[in-house]
Amino acid sequence: MNNKQENMQIEFVDVDKFYGAFHALKSINLSIPKGHFVALVGPSGCGKSTLLRSLAGLEDISSGKINVGGQTVNDMPPRKRDLAMVFQSYALYPHMNVRDNLTYALRLKKVSKAERAKKADEVASVIGLEDLLDRKPKELSGGQRQRVAMGRAIIREPQAFLFDEPLSNLDASLRVRMRKEIRALHERIGSTSVYVTHDQVEAMTMADHVVVMRAGVIEQQGPPLELYEKPANCFVGGFIGSPAMNFVPATVDADGNSVTLKLDSSPSVPIAKKLQGGRSVLAGLRPEHLELCAKNTKGSIPITLSAVEATGSITFLFTSDTPEMVIVADGNQIANDGDRLGMKITPENVHLFDPETELAIGET
Ligand SMILES: Nc1ncnc2c1ncn2[C@@H]1O[C@H](COP(=O)(O)OP(=O)(O)O)[C@@H](O)[C@H]1O
Ligand SMILES: [Mg+2]
Repeated sequence: MNNKQENMQIEFVDVDKFYGAFHALKSINLSIPKGHFVALVGPSGCGKSTLLRSLAGLEDISSGKINVGGQTVNDMPPRKRDLAMVFQSYALYPHMNVRDNLTYALRLKKVSKAERAKKADEVASVIGLEDLLDRKPKELSGGQRQRVAMGRAIIREPQAFLFDEPLSNLDASLRVRMRKEIRALHERIGSTSVYVTHDQVEAMTMADHVVVMRAGVIEQQGPPLELYEKPANCFVGGFIGSPAMNFVPATVDADGNSVTLKLDSSPSVPIAKKLQGGRSVLAGLRPEHLELCAKNTKGSIPITLSAVEATGSITFLFTSDTPEMVIVADGNQIANDGDRLGMKITPENVHLFDPETELAIGET
């Protein structure tokens, strides 16, 4: 075994999973180094939970290998895999106080009462619940309950923590706070974490490595900003970033250095690479990369606004083009429906995709 493999805490090697005839996971290859925080993200039904549950041993895979800590675990029962699933906070035992909820797994393992009390104190200080050990779940806030759920996993000292949308039924502000807490906890205990979410912002803000899935396939994986800056295909381009990337059909101009967008005004915009003239492409323009300017500004794309949505901090502007474009502007930008303006984009921010394969067109 080389060093790289030794450092791999979790590996999926060519993993396929069928539910009857339904192909839920397709040739999954994924390596998670020790101590990393990995997010699995994608639309509902893409196979995130199936992937996580296969790792936990709650689902059998159809072919391929899953390794944990250098050992193949395909045939190992869940409790021997030494992985802790962190469930949503409502999975706490309502009749038990925090201390008993935390130490329940240890009691099953016949750990002594004194040892359990010591562990409960240690873990309570890690999750900041020292003063609440005697409370019942119903006497805790949503965030405190979520921390108990985490504490229950921590006390087992597993090789890795597996989270399946643990924050999805918390309100928005608590979700943002818990996001930070889970991340801080991950760093404090130096654990390996695999975190499933359908929320791309949650994935981007929490993880060092984001895995984007669609229909059982890993579409792209990498550091969060790499996915944003260099989406490998239209799906990832549209999925990462909010509001979603605008996609506009276009044709490469004769000189190969610019494309003519199929918008109402057929504007030509420079691109950062040289392509074959006459070639059809899909241009991906992020709403936040489109810059408003006065009508007829040199090098700008003429637009007519069809709708303006002010949120205070930022304003969303919609153009009357087909396809409609969304522009994100500062909140102090004043504009009205029907206004005729211009917008600009720098060549580096024009993403180019092949309209047939939907793959990003590489550097030439
Ligand atoms: N036990 C099952 N039997 C049959 N199909 C299933 C089963 N579990 C999940 N699926 C299907 O597999 C796909 C992936 O499901 P899941 O992994 O739960 O998606 P996600 O967590 O990304 O929303 C879905 O189409 C779902 O309907
Ligand atoms: Mg799921």
